[in-house]
Amino acid sequence: MLETRLTEKLGCKYPIVQTAMGWVADPNLVAGSCNAGGFGFLAGATIPADEMERDILRVKELTDQPFGVNFHMYQPNAAHIVDLVIEHGVRAVSYSRSPGPEFIKKLKDAGVVCMPTVGLPKHAIKAVELGADAVTVQGGEGGGHTGAVPTTLLIPQVVDAVGDKVPVVAAGGFKDGRGLLAALSWGADGIAMGTRFLMTEESPVPRETLQRYMDCKNPAEIIVSKAMDGLPQRMIMNELLSSLEKAGPAKKLWIALVNAWAFHKHTGGSMAGLLKSAWAMHKDSEIPTSQAIMSANAPMIIQKAMVDGEPADGVLPSGQVAGVIDQLLSCEDLINSIVTEAEQRLALLAQRAG
Ligand SMILES: Cc1cc2nc3c(=O)[nH]c(=O)nc-3n(C[C@H](O)[C@H](O)[C@H](O)COP(=O)(O)O)c2cc1C
Repeated sequence: MLETRLTEKLGCKYPIVQTAMGWVADPNLVAGSCNAGGFGFLAGATIPADEMERDILRVKELTDQPFGVNFHMYQPNAAHIVDLVIEHGVRAVSYSRSPGPEFIKKLKDAGVVCMPTVGLPKHAIKAVELGADAVTVQGGEGGGHTGAVPTTLLIPQVVDAVGDKVPVVAAGGFKDGRGLLAALSWGADGIAMGTRFLMTEESPVPRETLQRYMDCKNPAEIIVSKAMDGLPQRMIMNELLSSLEKAGPAKKLWIALVNAWAFHKHTGGSMAGLLKSAWAMHKDSEIPTSQAIMSANAPMIIQKAMVDGEPADGVLPSGQVAGVIDQLLSCEDLINSIVTEAEQRLALLAQRAG
């Protein structure tokens, strides 16, 4: 039951994907997921350009299993990441905005699995037209940037739209074997989880920040706000978010520019590079330039919480599922428990069906 089109394409044992999370999905977490039989994506969008190759090699030191790299087509080193992925035989890439056709062709010609994340059936159809080999579909309860349609409604829709052409991976709100079995019943080929992997023993998130996730006991308190970068993002409410929600447009833009500058210094880009990326995003997506700047740089604000361990001053992107997780598990225990539970539940259902 757990061998699907997804496990075949990705070369992993179980149809369980650890998604890329900025600052969180580091080589250790990726290797932990892969060694446990899942498939991990390295968060290439927040890794400094000159450390990218080192991190890919580090994953290869820690595991002999296949893994993936996530990137953002507007980041200054996107073309270099594509080259590194091909050079080092990385199995798959994930992205939320599709890279240009020349990048997709280059990746596919090299046999790299292209696996974008989408939030609507029409985006899944477009992604497949552009060459996607599999699509991850994130329902509204998922962490980070997210849509308004819940997983329960979205997955079957996307399976109906593109499931006959490519494997569909269900994301948003998954944490256990019941969820995996439900996703397979909807016709998906596997599940992808962010928040549940953030809350593991291998997670690099500082304990002070992790404690905020553990303390959150109510999924309804993990809200969607546009205050951070103008796009709907699901986060745990904290001091910074509460003050941003009250700030006017000028103050928000100022905060975005300050963080934008710091982010580009961190990733090796210049202010001119930043404005170029923001302009490209503005032109392609018809969103205001100011919002594009904020969107391109949201990862910087996330860093405060995820790297510096200052949960009050950074963003806490999280799926609603954090509100029902009360234990940090190792990747191995997590994946084993999901697999065991899915198999037990299926056996029970089969028994009932006679
Ligand atoms: C802390 C955090 C950071 C994230 N960063 C990224 C990112 O850099 N790129 C991306 O495509 N998705 C990002 N996401 C979204 C996840 O990859 C994934 O799609 C989502 O977490 C799935 O929902 P779940 O949290 O309910 O499992 C992030 C999510 C979280 C919780």
